[in-house]
Amino acid sequence: MGNKLFTPLQLGAYTLKNRIVMAPLTRMRATPGTLSPNDLNVEYYHQRASAGLIITEASQISPIGMGYPLTPGIYTNEQVAGWKKVTDAVHAEGGKIFIQLWHVGRVSHSSLHPAEGLPVAPSEVAAAGMTLTSTFEQVPFETPRAITLEEIKQTIADYRKAAENALAAGFDGVELHAANGYLLHEFMHETSNKRTDEYGGSVENKARITLEVLDILVDTLGSDKVGIRLSPFAYPYGEYDANSYPVYEYLVEKLNSYKLAYLHLIRYRQGEIEAVESKEEKLWKSYTGNIIAADGFTAEDAAEYVKSGKADAIAFGRNFIANPDLPKRMELEVELNVYDRDTFYGGAEKGYTDYPFLK
Ligand SMILES: Cc1cc2nc3c(=O)[nH]c(=O)nc-3n(C[C@H](O)[C@H](O)[C@H](O)COP(=O)(O)O)c2cc1C
Repeated sequence: MGNKLFTPLQLGAYTLKNRIVMAPLTRMRATPGTLSPNDLNVEYYHQRASAGLIITEASQISPIGMGYPLTPGIYTNEQVAGWKKVTDAVHAEGGKIFIQLWHVGRVSHSSLHPAEGLPVAPSEVAAAGMTLTSTFEQVPFETPRAITLEEIKQTIADYRKAAENALAAGFDGVELHAANGYLLHEFMHETSNKRTDEYGGSVENKARITLEVLDILVDTLGSDKVGIRLSPFAYPYGEYDANSYPVYEYLVEKLNSYKLAYLHLIRYRQGEIEAVESKEEKLWKSYTGNIIAADGFTAEDAAEYVKSGKADAIAFGRNFIANPDLPKRMELEVELNVYDRDTFYGGAEKGYTDYPFLK
């Protein structure tokens, strides 16, 4: 039996050439000032076009949705023009590319959006740990401002504009970032969501904003060009509370009716929270569409996951940073370049576009 990783996959509107997905990877190398993709970013994505699907680095939908220095946006014409060069370069190689749409919520700092002031979040609860200012200085998180109902409406409108911009920039689709402790995820956990209005309290209320945004994206692009990313077993920058788990169950159940291109799940990582493996399996099985799985996969366990039907495709993060030709290397079973953590975030070519291809 051949390795299914290297077989095509029908994912929503598209047939992917293989099941190796480039995971969304923040690299903080957009153009200072405009936060638009530049020629170096074009080269980086072009180098990785042999992936079955590229999911771009998370890209903010609005100035206040930004949480780290030099992450790209998808809310100005200049940003759209920059992204168009990226999508053209990937398409020229027969690749497919979705943009990950991002609002960071409280995982931010006011220096990154001086006109908007403090970051917004479901409630006035600060994220845990340290963050970076616009000048890459390490500081503790600020206590965010609770987002108003009016601002929630505006945020949903910002997602619509971002989805329209994604189409104008030539993207094949969008991935809604509802994972990893950012705005939509903050609504799912009661440690960060103390609201008493229709966006807090019950399971339905904690999932409401995510589904409202999803409705807008589906309306703008069609369900077969929209994916969503969830991380049900981890809550970075915050305190994981077990009461959030039913929110994920509810969401996954709801997602079945959306017929999205895919559900992107970050799998359970040993040691993060207790005894969830059986829950993970249940959640996984309750979804009827395509699943992309991510987190710590090797070529071997990726092949196993896909073969067993646990997932339809596998996303690789760090290995795609260091191996522009990752699918080829995996197919030939050759050694991988080793990634350099020091150059993950910020900088220029080094650790970005200078990892060698196989000779
Ligand atoms: C440098 C870096 C940047 C990342 N940026 C994002 C991001 O923008 N959006 C996101 O959903 N996940 C992000 N992640 C998580 C990755 O998508 C992926 O889930 C993680 O790296 C685990 O997969 P891996 O073991 O194959 O690297 C990032 C991870 C790394 C290492």
